[in-house]
Amino acid sequence: MAISFDAELDVFTLHTANTTYAFQVRDDRRLLHLYWGAGRLNAADLPRDEQVFSHHHEESVRVERHREEYAAQGGYFFDEPGIAVAYADGVRDCAVRYDSHSITSEGGRDELAVVLIDAQYGLELTLHYRLYAGLDIVDRWASVTNRGLAAVVATSLKSATFYPAEGRGHRLAHLSGRWGAEHRIERTPLTQSRTVLESRHGISGHDNNPWFAIDRGGAATETSGDVWFGALHWSGNWRITVEQDRWDQVRVTGGYNDFDFALTLEPGATHTTPIFTGGFTTDGFGSASRMLHRYQRSWLAPALKAATPRPVIFNSWEVFWFDINAEQQLALAEQAAAVGAEVFVVDDGWFVGRDDDHGGLGDWVVDPRKFPEGLAPLARHVESLGMAFGLWVEPEMVSPNSRLAAEHPDWIIGFPTREGTLVRNQLVLNLALDEVREWMFSWLDELIGNVGIGYLKWDMNRYLTEAGFLTGDQDDRIWVAYVENLYDVFRRLQAKHPEVLFENCASGGGRVDFGMAAVSDLVSRSDNGDALDILKLHEGYTQAYAPITAGGGIGEVPNGINGRTAPLTFRAHAGMLGAFHISVNLFTMTPEQLAELTGFVELYKSIRSIVHLGELHRLVSAWENPYAAYQYVSEDRSQAVVLAFGQFLQFQFIVPRLRLRGLDEDALYEVDGYKPMSGAALMGLGLPLELHGDYDSRVIRVTRSAPGQSR
Ligand code: DGJ
Repeated sequence: MAISFDAELDVFTLHTANTTYAFQVRDDRRLLHLYWGAGRLNAADLPRDEQVFSHHHEESVRVERHREEYAAQGGYFFDEPGIAVAYADGVRDCAVRYDSHSITSEGGRDELAVVLIDAQYGLELTLHYRLYAGLDIVDRWASVTNRGLAAVVATSLKSATFYPAEGRGHRLAHLSGRWGAEHRIERTPLTQSRTVLESRHGISGHDNNPWFAIDRGGAATETSGDVWFGALHWSGNWRITVEQDRWDQVRVTGGYNDFDFALTLEPGATHTTPIFTGGFTTDGFGSASRMLHRYQRSWLAPALKAATPRPVIFNSWEVFWFDINAEQQLALAEQAAAVGAEVFVVDDGWFVGRDDDHGGLGDWVVDPRKFPEGLAPLARHVESLGMAFGLWVEPEMVSPNSRLAAEHPDWIIGFPTREGTLVRNQLVLNLALDEVREWMFSWLDELIGNVGIGYLKWDMNRYLTEAGFLTGDQDDRIWVAYVENLYDVFRRLQAKHPEVLFENCASGGGRVDFGMAAVSDLVSRSDNGDALDILKLHEGYTQAYAPITAGGGIGEVPNGINGRTAPLTFRAHAGMLGAFHISVNLFTMTPEQLAELTGFVELYKSIRSIVHLGELHRLVSAWENPYAAYQYVSEDRSQAVVLAFGQFLQFQFIVPRLRLRGLDEDALYEVDGYKPMSGAALMGLGLPLELHGDYDSRVIRVTRSAPGQSR
């Protein structure tokens, strides 16, 4: 990994382990993108401005085809800009030009900062790049400083533009969905058009996820082909625009959504955008995912917990809903401990006014009817059983009939002359206000300390509507400040309570993104705990996000969302694909069923370090086949685990041999239920797999017995 600037050719070259990212400073001091893809190319290898465009003679065409590294709205430019501003005199033509740059290197990360200036108005734009040892990833973001004398309003502000493949026939992959059915993989051919992936919901949203992949010629598979991919680290309104222009150049621009957007920069003020991560691989979608997983685990996730497998979590929400009390939770905790749970979470319903979803939010006081002695005795009991105590909160919300709403009507998001839209009978607190941020941090901090909480489930159950202004100035919108303050509360809680695990839940997977991944430890992948649906949810989720964070597991049957009743074994095996949760009624299970569940928890504990810290290979897609298979391999390739599931197997369907991946070719492996096989045989010939009908599933452990001695 290295960043260099060739002063003779005026070319920046960013080398990752296997790729090159390069751009040039033109004579007119605009930045021109040159290359992003395979190989470690030198500045001299790269087609500079004149060579790329030599067959065009007219200047207008030359300018139009320019691949601006980061385009400012203005001049002869009609594509998605990185930045659009309105200067105080009404001029909306931004002309930033190269000024200077700096290259730094520290702790396995190299950084480049390139400063551009619109001299007439004193607007300074810095483009940031960061590379990581061992990863073919380029992080990009921008910061903008107003060095002028008057305020500047940014009406569009993006983190970066990436230029994947040129030419026609490429394909875009992205994630879509809705509540209970998040993370669906969509693949669509790119045409001369503009495709917008976005959220306007105030959170990253269930509809689209801020991740994309583009594969060359639409020809990549899970294991082969050129794939450019990226993810935006933003948990509010975001927008990724994928364009193929009249010259068949593909541009991907990501950052804040322009929807209802305006950001005022007073003189002297700086604003820094979220990161837009980009990556490239020649080895297909699986390789792209593994790169993002490694990136998330090694560089993004709260460091202290990133390398520790997640505990087994028990949560009674799907069983008792709001109908909870101390006695029942205590008894349940004993049962949960007996089956091997390591965290016991009290979900919604523990605070005053919360017998259903019509009240209580904002007044975070323990309900004395349900917990006469408060939560601390229960928490201590849970700890004495060897588990951490977990608690549900929904800090961003307020019930209109709460004391908080009466005392601080000005803390609620909305326009003064309009009535706010109620969703799930609740309104949203204006976390963009620093006062609200401080209040939120301090009651959460106290709650964690006073009760002795080891696991905090942070929920968020509605989108933002009637999002007003921060200061009354109509150019001062709350969208960005809301998310920045949210991160701030999380970061401070993480710093003050480093041992606490923080779950990110937003009606399941409504706020899944790298912004939240940087401040939380686990995600509620979906509210949908149906085992068959989990096979698909996990496939989509893991396109970008690491399995260690994928919270989900054994849910109650019949499933509350689709009414399906999957057998316990199948539900348990599906639960083992990520971070294992149990949400079943332990009171009504027979001793045999409890023993069975205990066995599954033990099995899970024996494989979870491979699942959470190893590499994921999605062997058989649940979307495309009547069965599915996932494989996880430890980093040193000494251990693997295969999880296979029958979905809708036709009578006498023969499952093709399952060819494993990522093993040591020359090593000999013990395989549960099979004779030992070499890595080469397991990967080439494959494992004969029998799945007898729907809901048949297998967990197969593969353990290296003798490295390099198979032949
Ligand atoms: C929505 C979450 O996704 C559920 O897991 C549960 O915590 C409920 N909210 C509680 O109201």
